[in-house]
Order: sequence, then structure tokens, then C-alpha cells
Amino acid sequence: MKGIILAGGAGTRLYPLTMVTSKQLLPVYDKPMVYYPLSTLMLAGIKDILIISTPVDIPNFERLLGDGSNYGINFSYKVQPSPDGLAQAFILGEEFIGDDACAMVLGDNIFYGNGFSRLLKTAKKNAEEIKRTTIFGYYVNDPERFGVVDFNDKGKATRIVEKPDEYISNYAVTGLYFYPMGVSSLAKKIKPSDRGELEITALNEMYLEKELIDVQLLGRGFAWLDTGTMDSLTDAASFVQMVQKRQSVVISAPEEIAYKNGWINREKLLESAKRYGKSPYGEHLKNVAEGKLRY
Ligand code: G1P
Repeated sequence: MKGIILAGGAGTRLYPLTMVTSKQLLPVYDKPMVYYPLSTLMLAGIKDILIISTPVDIPNFERLLGDGSNYGINFSYKVQPSPDGLAQAFILGEEFIGDDACAMVLGDNIFYGNGFSRLLKTAKKNAEEIKRTTIFGYYVNDPERFGVVDFNDKGKATRIVEKPDEYISNYAVTGLYFYPMGVSSLAKKIKPSDRGELEITALNEMYLEKELIDVQLLGRGFAWLDTGTMDSLTDAASFVQMVQKRQSVVISAPEEIAYKNGWINREKLLESAKRYGKSPYGEHLKNVAEGKLRY
């Protein structure tokens, strides 16, 4: 399975913070935002990842993340010349995806919760082996800000609407999607919406019509944070700070995940720790390499 991190957009809601840098490179407490969605894909077991961003920001992502060897994975990069919608990622990524299934995570979406890896691995398996799509639903108080899914008593999705004017349900569709092979050809069939974008919701509706989509709810104990506004960005940072301090864990450290997955060895992890100098993040990687944290 392939993975895409979509890190485009002008981030105007965060101006002036994003006037000279990509939103997805802004700090969320102790690490750049993109580390969080990257960790999500790595926890799913995905090793081939395409990073899509704007022409000016791509070089910075490359400087930060490199070719993936620090994490035992492969990165490819692709420019999105203009932000024409989330589903455009599958058109831009057509060659990269080839005949594989593909997951996508939005570069500003942060997920955290016990048992998350298991849900991710199931979604991956279902896309690869039985050609089913998985989206993740999360209860929110402001559903009009999101793509929203409604489902029947049996938990089967009945409707997915982007930024609904009228109440449908409180379940937002999070920015994490697992699609079976063939997603690029479906994405090409999408017509631009009223706001002129190739909507991910239109793509999900196609799978819904064919009854090939599953909604995995992220319930109690799961945190899903989007970081698109000033307040949500600060909230996300506070959340990460609080959990990390209290539990002495580091949320979304890609090198740690790579090490736990057996994708890099101890030596490589120590090398990475050095790269981060005397920062607490580097210190954490060193502790992991020295076996101080028991899992
Ligand atoms: C996008 C999607 C929406 C989804 C949200 C999750 O919204 O269009 O369906 O619920 O991401 O973060 P946007 O951030 O483009 O407004």
C-alpha cells in the first residue's frame, strides 16, 4: 500500500504565521506538524509515501524529511501547483500509486489514541485484500465545518455531505482515508464543486454508492485534532504538551515508530538522535535507543 500526505494550501486562516512557511511545518508543541500525519501512515505500516505541497514549500519538506532513509522508508515529492481540492492528490499521485491501494492523510490532522495502530492495520488490510474503503468518523460539536457522515442503526454509512448547511449528524469525516486500487481513475471522474474543488467527499460518495465504504468510528479515548485555525493549533499544542509531560511519552516521533517497526536499527536511531542536537526530542530518541522506555 502507498501513502500520501497532502500538505498544500495557502493556510490563509493562519496568516501571518503561514505567510512565509507551510502550515504543515508549523510547530505543534515540540515538533513540526507534518510529523504527526507521517506517524499515522507509518503506524499503518506504510513505507512508500508521497508528500504533496506547494511549489515554494516542497524544498523545505525535502530539507526536513529527506529521502526517507532516516525512517527506513521512501519519500517521493510532488508539487500541487494550485489547491484544487483534496481528491486532486490521487490524480497528481497516479503514477506513484500505480496498481496499489493508497491511504491519504491530511497534513494538518493529528490522531492519538490507544489501539489506533490496530484500526489502521485493519483499514489497510481491507483496502488491499477485499477492496473496501475506510474513512474515520469522529463526534464533533461543529459538524458544519467538516465532511459529515450519517449512518443507520447497524453503523452502515447512508450519506456523506461536505460542510452541510442542514444538520445531518455530529460525525465528522476525519482527514484520513484508505482506498483500494483504482482510486486515481475514480478521482478523475469528479467534477469541481461549487467552491471549485475536487472534493474528497465526492470520491467517498462514489464508494458509498457501490456500498464499498466502511466508517470506523474513533470513540472514547481517541483524540482527533485538526489544526486549521489559530485556536485549534494552540489546543493541539497544549494537548500534546499535556499528554507528553504526564505520560512521559512522545506523541508521533517517526524515528521511534521506525525503530519499533524494525525499519531502522539502533545505530541509525542514535544517529537521528544526534541530528536533533540537545533538544528534548533528540533526548527522547536517545532514551529509546538505550532501552530506557519499556513498551
Ligand atoms: C477537509 C475535507 C473534510 C474533512 C476535513 C478534515 O476539509 O474537505 O471533508 O472533514 O478536511 O480535516 P477542509 O480542511 O478542506 O475544510
